[in-house]
Amino acid sequence: MSDNKIYQASTTAPVNIAVVKYWGKRDAKLNLPTNSSVSVTLSQSDLRTHTTAACSAAFGPEDTLLLNSSPQDVSGARTQACFRELRALRSALESADPSLPKLSSLPLRIVSENNFPTAAGLASSAAGFAALVRAIANLYELPSSPTDLSRIARQGSGSACRSLFGGYVAWQMGSKEDGSDSVAVEVAPASHWPTMRALILVVSAEKKGVSSTSGMQITVATSELFQRRAEVVVPAHMKAMEKAILEKDFETFAKVTMMESNSFHATCLDTFPPIFYLNDVSRAAIRVVEDINKKAGKTIAAYTFDAGPNAVIYYEEENADAVAGTLKSALGELDGWQGREIKAQSTEGVDA
Ligand code: ADP
Ligand code: DP6
Ligand code: CO
Repeated sequence: MSDNKIYQASTTAPVNIAVVKYWGKRDAKLNLPTNSSVSVTLSQSDLRTHTTAACSAAFGPEDTLLLNSSPQDVSGARTQACFRELRALRSALESADPSLPKLSSLPLRIVSENNFPTAAGLASSAAGFAALVRAIANLYELPSSPTDLSRIARQGSGSACRSLFGGYVAWQMGSKEDGSDSVAVEVAPASHWPTMRALILVVSAEKKGVSSTSGMQITVATSELFQRRAEVVVPAHMKAMEKAILEKDFETFAKVTMMESNSFHATCLDTFPPIFYLNDVSRAAIRVVEDINKKAGKTIAAYTFDAGPNAVIYYEEENADAVAGTLKSALGELDGWQGREIKAQSTEGVDA
């Protein structure tokens, strides 16, 4: 190997927005969830992470990560777990074929850009860690499947495991102690229900006050509602949601999506001290969606909110004017609404 050669690979990864939410860890070290979840992967043309992974003896000695031009701390256990697992897979390839360059022992230099607000409840950790894991897997030329990579991405950020796939994706909580069965699987490809649309209402691009990681930790420790949510509410929602997706039953999909979002934010409010992710503009968006559905005489729009005030509205293409048109004109009048809207549709997962 020529000494200072730079090896590199790039990829992009989409965000995914959960319709059955992950909120709570049963094992913080391995990032194992207290419940399964389901999401829709959004179009990379709108919200995506672009990541380049490089390695070279000329770098280092430390691994580095630059996110939106700022150096990040990579010493955290979760980033380290991703690096360690990917290096172990590369190292196994190198042992099997000694002619391969020994990339596993070289320092990594990762450069990543999110083209949407980071840490604002729009799943930057999901697209971010999916892209990081895929970029390094490409650099190392690993033959791993999306499910294999989802097991690694999960350790970076739980929601990231679902961004390895496009379309409709479940994260199965698994039951093994080592987390080997806590992975993402495809429920249906994007092509199964191609008329699905998502409208993202960016109410605030600011960094959230309580990160997802610490928010869910306080919820698990203090909320009374949480246990019922994990044991009773979510399993029922998982079953109904997977059926609704397979049957392309929008009314059920929408109803479960909205009830899920409300259940999740109720447990946030039941956390002590309470966590408020929704704001007045978020609540106004909920009212507008209710009015749209009332006027239509059926459920044609569903709201959902992750750990932040920004709304994601799911609807079918045929109802674009009634849903997206009405929301834009109704919310355009409100203060605190930045008038930014991004159209998205479910599509393929992380680029190979
Ligand atoms: P979000 O709602 O945006 O997912 P989180 O609180 O879950 O917010 O996570 C935000 C954190 O995820 C960031 O502070 C950063 O540590 C990490 N992150 C976001 N984007 C990237 C990226 N492209 N590459 C690596 N890590 C990222
Ligand atoms: C509300 O995946 O960001 O968006 O695993 O601690 O990184 P960590 O948390 P993260 O949590 C996402 C929470 C959510 C719901 C969801 O995406 O399922
Ligand atoms: Co996140």
